[in-house]
Amino acid sequence: MRIVDLRSDTVTLPTEEMLEAIRNAKLGDDVFREDPTVNKLEEMAAQKMGKESALLVTSGTQANLASVLSHTKRGDQVILEAESHTYNFETGGLSAIGGLLAKPVKGNMGILDPRDVEKAISPKDIHHPETTLVCLENTHNLAGGIVVSPSQIEAVWKIAKKHGLAVHMDGARIFNAAVALDIDVRELTRHIDSVMFCLSKSLSCPVGSLVAGSQEFIEKARKWRKMLGGGMRQAGIIAAPGIIALETMIDRLRDDHKNARILAEKLAKTKGISINLETVQTNIVIFDVRDLGVTAAEFVQKLTEQGVKSLPRSDTSIRMVTHRGIEREDIEHAIESINKAATSLSKN
Ligand SMILES: Cc1ncc(COP(=O)(O)O)c(C=O)c1O
Repeated sequence: MRIVDLRSDTVTLPTEEMLEAIRNAKLGDDVFREDPTVNKLEEMAAQKMGKESALLVTSGTQANLASVLSHTKRGDQVILEAESHTYNFETGGLSAIGGLLAKPVKGNMGILDPRDVEKAISPKDIHHPETTLVCLENTHNLAGGIVVSPSQIEAVWKIAKKHGLAVHMDGARIFNAAVALDIDVRELTRHIDSVMFCLSKSLSCPVGSLVAGSQEFIEKARKWRKMLGGGMRQAGIIAAPGIIALETMIDRLRDDHKNARILAEKLAKTKGISINLETVQTNIVIFDVRDLGVTAAEFVQKLTEQGVKSLPRSDTSIRMVTHRGIEREDIEHAIESINKAATSLSKN
């Protein structure tokens, strides 16, 4: 049976070129800062993000946590979008490990209104925690891969700076945003203090994320990374495919976006399925199966039986993600399977 895995862009496997690069990587002990391949990747990442310095970490979760910890002190309040990954899916690390209070603010399709951010900043008095950080997510995963534009970022930045707050961006998929807007990624990082991005998602690497920011910030993050167990030794084997990714894997994201669009437009024509095409801006497609009288979990199961893998996003909505390894024929196969499942359900 043909398997089409649309659960996440994290399922991508490394390319032959990446495996070859791992085999040939020059290695050293990165805790001593002696791994030349890590050093090279970090320099490349800092340059790409338009920041002074960068740090290789194990995962997106560790990247966000080390960043948040580097910007704050115990007892501070952190403003995050209510459906952000950091607030919902990073096991509450910011409160459990950082002793921080999360202040979730609902955005519009994941995008924070600067007026709401300003309202969420606590007054500077004896009763309140001090608000020191705002986190943005670009693209916004749960909202459906929504792109946050440079002007939307700048609007939040202006409010943050007016009140002395730092701004961190969870840019797990920031290259998807840059490609969708057809701009240099630095346009998206100009008005933030720190950014993280993942190598292990749409860039096809097996593991790793990077944090970028000022030299001082990265030195703090380096220490937090050590405490969080992320001080790695011959980490060049992770960095080597990362270098290939930054050199060769960004432009091809356009194909993933095209495939997502084709999938979404076909879904919009399928009876019983509803989808807001406005939300399909990058490689994530979210659609609702409520009108078919099934739960998302039941529909996902039906598709899995036909070899099409996806994930429930809520009780009635489903998420599909395009990535390297998903070709146009896979999209056709997914659409056929969805139509078959929808038709069989609407007959019942
Ligand atoms: C927006 C966003 N941030 C952070 C993460 C966490 O990355 P990791 O799974 O590498 O910890 C993810 C993972 O899906 C994500 O989608």
